[in-house]
Amino acid sequence: MKPRIRINKDVCHSCGLCAEICPNRIMTMDGADGISLRPDRLPFCIACGQCMAVCTSQAIVVDGLAYERDFFALPKGSSEEMPFLEMIKARRAIRVFKNRPVPRELLEKVVEAITFAPPGFTPLKTELTVVQDTAVIRQALPEMIKVYDSLVKAMDNPIARFVVRRKVGAATFNTLKRHIVPLMKNRLPELKQGTEDTLTRYAPAMIIFHAHRDAENYEEDIHIALTYGFLAAHALGLGGSAMSIIPPPIQRSPRLRKLFLIPDTNVVVGSMILGYPKYRYQRGIKRNLRNVTWI
Ligand SMILES: Cc1cc2nc3c(=O)[nH]c(=O)nc-3n(C[C@H](O)[C@H](O)[C@H](O)COP(=O)(O)O)c2cc1C
Repeated sequence: MKPRIRINKDVCHSCGLCAEICPNRIMTMDGADGISLRPDRLPFCIACGQCMAVCTSQAIVVDGLAYERDFFALPKGSSEEMPFLEMIKARRAIRVFKNRPVPRELLEKVVEAITFAPPGFTPLKTELTVVQDTAVIRQALPEMIKVYDSLVKAMDNPIARFVVRRKVGAATFNTLKRHIVPLMKNRLPELKQGTEDTLTRYAPAMIIFHAHRDAENYEEDIHIALTYGFLAAHALGLGGSAMSIIPPPIQRSPRLRKLFLIPDTNVVVGSMILGYPKYRYQRGIKRNLRNVTWI
């Protein structure tokens, strides 16, 4: 069952942080009564806990999560000064950034960290496009929206849907049908109006991970490389997140491939957005693995 969200109006300051931070922008400041919840977006709550982690007054509660049990006090000091385990506990997927470019030397450090990610086989097969020019990301956004718009339209048409299924296979088709298409149907109106960027998140910088389609082990290598990338960003005082919503439109659109200088032979596997985090979290989030068996 999808989680429900409650806001305790007695303690809520209507600061709007939860609305800013929520990946699906479920909370809104639009009503007269401070924060309210958008019913059309409630089903898209992924119970990530970010709203509770950022709330200064513990006013927001997602069903199934409790402040005392599922959160913890964050270590003092910046991530740059913390030992590794403390540092990873304080990491969050950052989707809201200061309007400040990321200096080239920090991007170079993130790239350097990525080179230390272990590959299945050497030499490294991962290729990167580092987008340090924010204008290029803004230029790409309308084309990404177009690709998702065509996908949503195709999935509403039985013949086109059949073609998509044949092309992508049953597993990807089910992901598209059950998750991506409903999500994008909800997001597209604001994306098209230019009032919300739920694809590239107005990020100042982005790294695209791709590899030659015949390279061995490239998908696993890229997922690990991406993890090194966003951990390094966090360690450097930046913030970032993997973004699996970005590679598909780049993969499919010749215009985007050209803009991001992706060779025709390459598959776009991953992306991360990065920049300076705009907001500070009050607490960390604990999560349990489904099961751990010790033998
Ligand atoms: C492989 C991967 C892909 C992701 N893709 C997206 C994405 O497309 N859009 C998005 O808003 N967040 C994306 N995220 C961020 C996750 O939603 C986020 O990590 C998760 O909700 C947990 O939150 P936390 O990272 O703050 O702990 C992705 C994360 C991973 C690891």
